[in-house]
Amino acid sequence: MARKRNLLLLGGTGEGLRLARELEHHPKIHCISSLAGRTENPERPPGTVRIGGFGGVAGLSEYLVTEKIDLVLDATHPFAAQMARHAFEACQALGIPRAKLVRPPWVPSPGDRWTMMPSVTAAAIFLRFHPAQRIFLTLGRQEIAPFVPLGREDKPHGNGRWFLTRMIDPPADGVVLPPGDLILGRGPFRPEDERALMQQHRIDLLVTKNAGGAAAKIAAAAELHIPVLMIERPPLPPGETLDSVGAALAWANLSAV
Ligand SMILES: NC(=O)c1ccc[n+]([C@@H]2O[C@H](COP(=O)([O-])OP(=O)(O)OC[C@H]3O[C@@H](n4cnc5c(N)ncnc54)[C@H](OP(=O)(O)O)[C@@H]3O)[C@@H](O)[C@H]2O)c1
Repeated sequence: MARKRNLLLLGGTGEGLRLARELEHHPKIHCISSLAGRTENPERPPGTVRIGGFGGVAGLSEYLVTEKIDLVLDATHPFAAQMARHAFEACQALGIPRAKLVRPPWVPSPGDRWTMMPSVTAAAIFLRFHPAQRIFLTLGRQEIAPFVPLGREDKPHGNGRWFLTRMIDPPADGVVLPPGDLILGRGPFRPEDERALMQQHRIDLLVTKNAGGAAAKIAAAAELHIPVLMIERPPLPPGETLDSVGAALAWANLSAV
C-alpha cells in the first residue's frame, strides 16, 4: 500500500482546528498540525500536533525535508503574515505544493462607520486626533502598547482616554495596559452580548483588525452607530488562496493523489 501523504497544517485558527478534525481519519493523508504556542490553553487539534516556531525559513525548510512533508496547508490567521511568507518561500524553494486558507474579510455595509487603518500603529496615531473617549480595543496582547500613552493625562495628546481592552490570555507580568478595564475572552461572541458590553461601558469607538469570520462586534457596533477603526490585513504571499474549509479539503484531496 502506498504511504500516506504527509500534510503540514499550519494552524492556530478555528479553520485549522476544523481541518484537523476533517483530516483525522483520511485514508491518504497524515495530517500534522502546527501551532505557534502563543496562547496558553489552545484547543488541541486531533491527530499529530507539534508546537513552537520552526526557526525561520531555514528551520522550516529543514523540518519539511526531515519530516518528509508532501503538502503544506497554511491555515494561520489572516494577520500571521510572517508565517505565511516563510511557508511560501520554503515550499517554493523545495517544490512542495502549498496553499493559504484565508477567510473572507469583513466588508462594510451601508451605514457602517469604518475608517480603514493600514496598521495597529497607524490606528494609535490616528486616535490621538480622534474625539472618542471610551474605546473598545480588541487586539492581541502584543499589540496594545501603542495605545498606552493615549490614556495618560500628562501626555500632549493623551486626554485621558478610557479603554476597554479585550484579549484571550492575560498579559505577561509587568506589561502596562492602557487605563481602563481588561476583560479576557475567546470568541465567538454573541451579537447581543457584544451590544450589551458596548452599552454598559458607553463605548464610542471600536478598534479591531479585519479578521473576518464571526462578526458579532461589528454587527453590534453598526447597530449602536459606533465608529470603527478597522485595521486592514497585511498582503498575502503569492500562490494559491482558498477561502473556506471546504475548498481547503478539496485542495488537499486533489494534491494528495
Ligand atoms: N496575528 C493574529 O492576529 C492572530 C490571531 C489569532 C490567531 N493567531 C495564530 O497565532 C499564531 C501566531 O500568529 P502571529 O501573528 O504571531 O504569526 P506571525 O507573526 O506570522 O509568525 C511569527 C512566528 O511565529 C511562528 N509561528 C506562527 N504561526 C505558527 C504555526 N502555526 N506553527 C509554528 N510556528 C508558527 C513562526 O516562528 P518561526 O519563524 O520560528 O518558525 C513565525 O515566524 C498563528 O498560528 C496564527 O494562526 C494569530
